[in-house]
Amino acid sequence: MSYSPSSPIMCHSPRVTVVGAGKVGSTLAQRIAEKNLADVVLLDIVEGMPRGLALDLMEARGIELHNRRIIGTTDYADTYGSDIVVITAGFPRKPGMTRDDLLLTNAKIVVEATKKAITYSPDAIYIVVTNPLDVMTYLAWQATGLARVDPEGLVARRRIMGMAGVLDSARFETFIAMELGVCPLDVKAMVLGSHGDLMVPLPRYATVNGIPITELLDVVTIERLVQRTRNGGAEIVELMQTGGAFYAPASSTCMMVESILLNQSRLLPVAAYLQGEYGLNDIFIGVPCRLGCGGIEKVVELQLTDAERDALHTSAQAVRKSIARTQEIFAAVSR
Ligand code: NAI
Ligand code: 2OP
Repeated sequence: MSYSPSSPIMCHSPRVTVVGAGKVGSTLAQRIAEKNLADVVLLDIVEGMPRGLALDLMEARGIELHNRRIIGTTDYADTYGSDIVVITAGFPRKPGMTRDDLLLTNAKIVVEATKKAITYSPDAIYIVVTNPLDVMTYLAWQATGLARVDPEGLVARRRIMGMAGVLDSARFETFIAMELGVCPLDVKAMVLGSHGDLMVPLPRYATVNGIPITELLDVVTIERLVQRTRNGGAEIVELMQTGGAFYAPASSTCMMVESILLNQSRLLPVAAYLQGEYGLNDIFIGVPCRLGCGGIEKVVELQLTDAERDALHTSAQAVRKSIARTQEIFAAVSR
């Protein structure tokens, strides 16, 4: 009996491209495949490396019990027809470096990567992970060209987004669970704003199985946990000395991918394009969003106190300043 491994039957398996096969990108590829969510195309500029990683992941399939294909490549043609493109390409922080130090280098990388990716996946949903996150998401939006064809931002609002709030919220939840000695599954928290020192954790909306943490912890303790959350990325960079966090960032991104591919409509903090919500316009910043198969289905507006709203606006001002600093690079790459 002869057996041909290639089948002529046409069937669509969801496809996620991960641009940047470094720590975050390769771990994300592993999570997506092992959760059986989609086939993965792992792309990097380094020859051989993404192919090696993909082969390594493929060789684990029988043990991890899934049948997802993982392709490693340096050629954007291999990414065609992706349902989701995740951009992790770019450099992480080194000890003592701020996320903003990364600004100009990563701006060029993200603009080039997005321009190439959208040529082959014009209908995909784009999730940006590269830092500084909120600025890079804005640049990716500009680079897709959707800003021009969609001046009202309706498409951008649905299809382009950044990952940071899920990670920052997960960190806040972890620190609350550790402080109270409770199971992390019982803790829910929401962190808004930009990804950085000016992020806006919301203790009023943090609960342990429905009990507000303000009833379980005193003000000083909560403030300490808030500060640790703001410093969450830097704490890991200082400890590791050779790069930043990647397990929790990959899990957080995978949660967004899963909510989109499985149309779960999860309510997650996502860097989204704002058009007046929270008094902000023409900016990507972390706010609660419902994520489903079309991308961002809704931006949810919470009632914020004056202090929370001021903090969100301060965070947005810093993002705007950084966006302005990248516009020359955007123009140069676009020429
Ligand atoms: P890494 O250094 O391990 O990987 C980056 C990869 O990007 C490398 O393999 C590099 O070859 C590749 N790359 C560079 N230029 C490229 C290009 N033009 N096209 C394709 N690939 C390119 O870094 P890691 O740890 O994976 O972090 C990636 C990015 O994600 C960093 O900017 C980091 O700061 C950011 N990050 C963001 C988080 C968030 O919450 N938004 C959380 C964790 C990391
Ligand atoms: C983090 O928060 C470095 O943004 C990255 O871990």
